[in-house]
Amino acid sequence: MDSIHIQGGIALQGKVCIQGSKNAALPILAATLLTVEQSYIKNCPRIADVYAMVSLLRRLGCLVTWREDGLSVDSSQVGREAMGGEAVKGMRSSLCLLGALLGRCGEAVLEHPGGCVIGERPINLHLWALEQMGVTFSEEEGMIQARTAGLHGTRIVLPMPSVGATENIILAGVMAEDDTSIEGAAKEPEIAALCRYLQSCGAEIDGIGTDRLVIHGGNKLYGTEFAVPSDRIVAGTYLMACIGTGGCVLLEGAPADEMAAVLEAASWMGASCWTTEEGICIQSSGCPKAVERLTTLPYPGFPTDLQSAALTVLTAAEGRSIVEESIFENRFRVAQELNRMGACVEQLDAHTVVVQGAKQLRGAEVEARELRGGAALVIAGLMARGETRVTGCPYIYRGYENICRDFRELGARIVSV
Ligand code: UD1
Repeated sequence: MDSIHIQGGIALQGKVCIQGSKNAALPILAATLLTVEQSYIKNCPRIADVYAMVSLLRRLGCLVTWREDGLSVDSSQVGREAMGGEAVKGMRSSLCLLGALLGRCGEAVLEHPGGCVIGERPINLHLWALEQMGVTFSEEEGMIQARTAGLHGTRIVLPMPSVGATENIILAGVMAEDDTSIEGAAKEPEIAALCRYLQSCGAEIDGIGTDRLVIHGGNKLYGTEFAVPSDRIVAGTYLMACIGTGGCVLLEGAPADEMAAVLEAASWMGASCWTTEEGICIQSSGCPKAVERLTTLPYPGFPTDLQSAALTVLTAAEGRSIVEESIFENRFRVAQELNRMGACVEQLDAHTVVVQGAKQLRGAEVEARELRGGAALVIAGLMARGETRVTGCPYIYRGYENICRDFRELGARIVSV
């Protein structure tokens, strides 16, 4: 299943069920380490990153079992295993294990984590914040060694709203003595999901959904059952695909309340979107409009994870669009592949591209080099005339359960080979 073959040019029609959120599931799975009881995490997506997190939890001694509707995690026995190898290096979210293991065991040994190739992705804020909570760090042969004689609450003012750093502070904070406050916290819905999960385990957290969180430390945490919310990025990917190909689609279970900026961008592109009890409906003529400037921003702004999908759609829009990436550098790698399909995307600097639209994309052999850019190439294939072959698909499977099945349900001619 290394490549995806697409026969493009078919308008999408029908309904598709949106999977559970990757970015919510991963820190919640790490958080199961904070209780000695059994946790049941429902609606966990069956994606490569979750499989990697499961393998890490098992290495630590947890008993993890897939059930029909989710994952059961028994974390009564947790060892002091050093965490290295592909599952750590290839997945940025393994970094959540740092806060969780410090909370559970007072120490953690973790290889410097990686993730997609979308910029430098430093971890300075994670280390700096945890240091303020009483953690000392050293690094030996690429392994980060973290130790604490006891986590203590404190006031942390984040200079930028890092999602991962906010999550690590929360994970450490619930096990710390006294209160931890985070000012300038990231407000992404996945952080609210982590907080709600921890609340259902018995933690006390105030300010959920705002940029000022107060974590009241020291409560004993219990096992719980919790459902991972739907994935707003997967929903946004399919929404963008429908704008690109035209058609009418129901995104079943899509979290509309978390997608205001995406729905606004969709309306700029000329699509009609409305929400029903079942999810989001989208209708598009397949002739998107250009957008003067689309800028990615921290939540509630337009998500960086949907920038490549939007860029792909804009290649078909009449006129000139500017896309600005304010979160990560190197997130325009997809532009080169789109140009090979006939698009006209010019990179002005590390953060800005200009798209001269109204190009009919042609099928080609293109390579996914990161998760969201890979999904964007699938959208390009659906929009293109002729056959497209997307290689490098393991990146896509890190975050999409079965992108081919989902698009086939909407009438597309797409198979993984
Ligand atoms: C998370 C998401 C990712 C999303 C990103 C931004 C997960 C698993 N991943 O990634 O899908 O694209 O949020 O919404 O949830 N930074 C530093 N120092 C640090 C940490 C971050 O300078 O220690 C910078 C980064 O380089 C980047 C910005 O802060 O420019 C935001 O990064 P961050 O929010 O931390 O992203 P992730 O948590 O890695």
